[in-house]
Amino acid sequence: MRCLVVGGGAREHAIGLALARAEAEIVVASLNANPGLERLARASARVDPTDAARVAALGRAQHVDFAVIGPEAPLASGVADALRAAEIPTVGPDQSAARIESSKLFCRELLTRHGIAGQPKWVAPETPEDVDRTLVAFPAPFVVKPSGLTAGKGVWVQGSDFTDPKEAGAYAKSILLQGGRVLLEEKVAGEEFSQMAFVTDSGVYPMPAVQDFKRALEGDKGGNTGGMGSYSQRDHLLPFLSAADRDRALKIVNAAAAAMRAEGLSYRGILYGGFMLTAEGPRLLEFNARFGDPEGINVLTLYEEGDFAELLLGVATGRVDPNLIQFRLRSTVVKYLVPPGYGDRPKPGGLLTLDAGAIEASGVHVVYGSVDAVGPGTVRLGTSRGVALVGEASAIHEAGSRVESALAFVKGEYYLRHDIGTKKDLEARWEHMRRLRAPNAKPSPLPLSVAPPDAPASSAGPPEQLLS
Ligand code: GLY
Repeated sequence: MRCLVVGGGAREHAIGLALARAEAEIVVASLNANPGLERLARASARVDPTDAARVAALGRAQHVDFAVIGPEAPLASGVADALRAAEIPTVGPDQSAARIESSKLFCRELLTRHGIAGQPKWVAPETPEDVDRTLVAFPAPFVVKPSGLTAGKGVWVQGSDFTDPKEAGAYAKSILLQGGRVLLEEKVAGEEFSQMAFVTDSGVYPMPAVQDFKRALEGDKGGNTGGMGSYSQRDHLLPFLSAADRDRALKIVNAAAAAMRAEGLSYRGILYGGFMLTAEGPRLLEFNARFGDPEGINVLTLYEEGDFAELLLGVATGRVDPNLIQFRLRSTVVKYLVPPGYGDRPKPGGLLTLDAGAIEASGVHVVYGSVDAVGPGTVRLGTSRGVALVGEASAIHEAGSRVESALAFVKGEYYLRHDIGTKKDLEARWEHMRRLRAPNAKPSPLPLSVAPPDAPASSAGPPEQLLS
């Protein structure tokens, strides 16, 4: 089977690795030459992934059986529409359905129109005067969210990105004055998690839940980034997320998919729910129309036993074989190596030398992101996330320790968050959720950190969720 991968980041390298395990032939359309993808690709072209006509022409010229679109920008610019018009089955929604990510306002209005529960309070002021009026009445703390795409960096949260509502008001007005739309949303307290699913017009097929670390610095300090790392747990839940919590989140994912279908929007692709687990249950922060980055790297690492090319072709054609939804029961931790100053003032150009053989031999996978190959084992960092190291093990903290040990085989100037996937961080999140849910109860230890490493998983995730 021959597949066109659109995009050249670490998420697309992880997609490529899963396709290569299925012995698919890979054709790449990207602006950069990702060293990992280049090694896997049968053909690769330096094409702007948002250039719909050129991407479709490449897919046609290469006689691909299907295409998979990695990043959000090509979805927002109609690349899936162009590929479908060229009769290439595609994993990724058309531009109109991709608005679930590219227009936060469309997403909130869709969920509201269909009475879908689990949304924070929100309002979308239309003018600068409206912003002033809204701020007087809107409950603090709150969040300012540009409606359009911002590569994960445009959201301002009270208490982290601003304290004075006037600052937030000025930010909201600046978005309106530049011709954009903006939302003010209630800030909800809890732990964030990502629940992705393969979605076709007839079914929703969930993946393991993942927790992403969006803040640049340890202890969740610093500015918002695309994600500094992430972890998943072997039973496909999370330490603080029960099967009941996950199922409530999936109900919202299902309802959103059904709402799009009811409005005549065909959806064949990945639907990513970004949730906050609150004391009252999951609240939907946003939907994305693609694999998360880094969350996609966690789940794709676990996809080994099925045929990923068949699965993606099924998503693209709307005929998924549920037997192909097979994620291994292992915990994973992803940590990104990024240029110093990433998130604020990244310093590009630093060289990283990786002994990939020694890293892989230690049970850690190397996934390349925004880097240029310089020579054997050496890459140059740009201004974005450079290389993802993926550890896997039975327990999350063991997977995290594996990544830390693998750093012995990396030389160069880089930054990463050491706290991701540590026992201390997992326990802090568990305790945070416990305090929110039962403030007066005695602290209880995190059970998974003491579970025997090879204990059987409590749940492999629900079977296929059919649209109602
Ligand atoms: N890691 C967040 C995202 O992919 O949007």
